[in-house]
Amino acid sequence: MSQELKTGHLSLDFLRVCEAAAIASARTMGQGDRKYSDHVAVESMREVMDTVPMRGRIVIGEGERDEAPMLYIGEEVGAGVRDTEDPEDYPEVDIAVDPLEGTNLCALGANNAISVLAASERGGLLNAPDIYMDKIVVGPSSRGVVDIDAPVKDNLKNIARRLGREVEDLTVIVLERPRHKKLIQDVREAGARIRLIGDGDLSAGISAAVAGTNIHALIGIGGAPEGVITAAALKCLNGEIQARLCFDHEKLGVDQGKVPPRDEVIGRLREMGINDPDKIYDTNDLAPGKKIIFAATGVTDGALLKGVRFFGAGKRTHSLIMTTESRHIRFVDTVHVEGGPDTVIRF
Ligand code: FBP
Repeated sequence: MSQELKTGHLSLDFLRVCEAAAIASARTMGQGDRKYSDHVAVESMREVMDTVPMRGRIVIGEGERDEAPMLYIGEEVGAGVRDTEDPEDYPEVDIAVDPLEGTNLCALGANNAISVLAASERGGLLNAPDIYMDKIVVGPSSRGVVDIDAPVKDNLKNIARRLGREVEDLTVIVLERPRHKKLIQDVREAGARIRLIGDGDLSAGISAAVAGTNIHALIGIGGAPEGVITAAALKCLNGEIQARLCFDHEKLGVDQGKVPPRDEVIGRLREMGINDPDKIYDTNDLAPGKKIIFAATGVTDGALLKGVRFFGAGKRTHSLIMTTESRHIRFVDTVHVEGGPDTVIRF
């Protein structure tokens, strides 16, 4: 029998993991090299991950083993993996990571790049393939009134009603992609305001579930791995995601080249245990775990989190950590002191 997963303890360890990845990638901000920014985030995340007292398994990561040297799907991580004498002293944990969500955002110094992960007991996070996913994400007030197959105008009307406002007063986030031409037109015709983003639908989805961000929904096609991590966050925030894997070449337009032919995708999904490729997933399908931990640290400034700030004697990070077990949503402002005894810490 392995140790029970205690989310309260581990969440602080995962905070360290995200902070390290965020600091490393933030150092590269604006250098214009998204691959390098991602690389340093991965390395730092992996290094700190190995100090966490757990027997972890990456279920969503940087890719398959043959394409990613670190944090690949199936990789075992954590201090418990090396402890061959007492492996039972550690909890078994499944982990979905995105060491740098918004690689372009970091490379350009644009807003909303984050380092992020979700963890759970074994089997608590869908092992999603690295393909596209159609998503609609809303906050707690609009739970139960959206339907991914309903016309956009109906969903927006329902969200507006639940929020006690007009459709014109809603802001919808959409990834700016050619595949979203019709979606953008539909949102405009319905009368809602749109915030088009270049990248980063994960942090956008989380913002939609937090009142006060002035974002009321995220709609459109983004990455499936990002969808699972979003679902883990929404479970802690009482929000809702509805989603469906997307590999329809016609729907993807110019992005179809990134996705293998339908038969190939269906075969790969079967291997992963997904027999209905057209299934509509809800929050619980994507993140069925009872003990979910979510951690994210801002890399660049964003709607929810500040980016990493560097000063002479250290750096300062801003993170969000939450679990499904506790009723605490923690925004953590950490000063990483590197100077000597005369270092001044500012409020
Ligand atoms: P990266 O961090 O891997 O660059 O992904 C950024 C992102 O914008 C995600 O937020 C989003 O889900 C996905 O890419 C969309 O994919 P695409 O850029 O192919 O449309």
